[in-house]
Amino acid sequence: DYYKYHPMPEISNWMVQMAKDHPDVVSIVEYGQTYEKRVIKLLKIGVNTGEKKKAIWMDCGIHAREWIAPAFCQYFVRQILEAYKTDSKMGEMMKNIDFYVTPVLNVDGYIYSWTNETTRLWRKNRSPGTSSCNCYGTDLNRNFNANWGTIGVESDCCSNIYCGTQAVSEPEAQAVTYFVGSRREDFLCFLTIHSYGQLLLVPYGHPNSTAPNYKELMDVGLAAADAIRKVHGKSYTVGTSPAVLYPNSGSSRDWARMQGIPLAYTFELRDDGTFGFELPEDQIKPTCEEAYSGALHIITYAHDKAFNGAVATATALVFSLGFKLVSETAFILICC
Ligand code: ARG
Ligand code: ZN
Repeated sequence: DYYKYHPMPEISNWMVQMAKDHPDVVSIVEYGQTYEKRVIKLLKIGVNTGEKKKAIWMDCGIHAREWIAPAFCQYFVRQILEAYKTDSKMGEMMKNIDFYVTPVLNVDGYIYSWTNETTRLWRKNRSPGTSSCNCYGTDLNRNFNANWGTIGVESDCCSNIYCGTQAVSEPEAQAVTYFVGSRREDFLCFLTIHSYGQLLLVPYGHPNSTAPNYKELMDVGLAAADAIRKVHGKSYTVGTSPAVLYPNSGSSRDWARMQGIPLAYTFELRDDGTFGFELPEDQIKPTCEEAYSGALHIITYAHDKAFNGAVATATALVFSLGFKLVSETAFILICC
């Protein structure tokens, strides 16, 4: 049931089922371990062409309590697998790119948030603090190597925005850093899914730095927000984190952009604060429908820029050469 929240064991079983049901295009990749030694895994989705392919990254559930995010990753996977059968554009994209989708990145934290009512709003991972500090958890979205520890963080390990002892100290952040970093030139796009606030955040979280393709990020983000609005009328605000939420450092989005991945976005899904992290289940469907439309816009843009761009250039070249040939032949025929 895609319109309910699922505990971790159900999501793991679902991943196995997806791979079983679509063995030609889906496989499970284990790419890390959590602090509590659980496996971090993703679904790799795409047509096996035997060639090296471009890639799209999506992770959900880096923050434990944002339950709508894993629900969205599951919905997203189902939708692209459905569209692949019926929609020629998705067929084309599945041939050119692989989708790497992590439904739950912060596995320990997610499981902890399912324990009871008192832990429902847990955000961080579950690594214990330092000897001088008695709290658990590092904010994984402050732990990446992107202006680490400089703004929008706390060094008190009891804080919800504790950034860890050093950049990439946490195994969950290490897993993403290694997996994505080792094939950084393959990734066209990096989408990290959170809630809440109805925002599309672009790099950077540090107010003093601006992404080299800031205009492109904003243009594509604004068009994605338009696509979102068309589905159920919800408005999403587009901007950098300091402009529309708060400044921060050490986020995975900023790290991805600094790695050279051009289209890096944080999605803050519904709502605007009425229910916050405890979004009622009857909003899972509309939230996923609209966010799918926004994500697909960004992904299609990234795909077309890398592929149709090349096809269009080649086509134009063939045409202009052909035209030159014809016109020169004609000139020769007429004149001489
Ligand atoms: N997912 C967000 C984060 O990464 C929390 C946003 C919630 N706060 C808000 N004012 N909308 O920090
Ligand atoms: Zn979050």
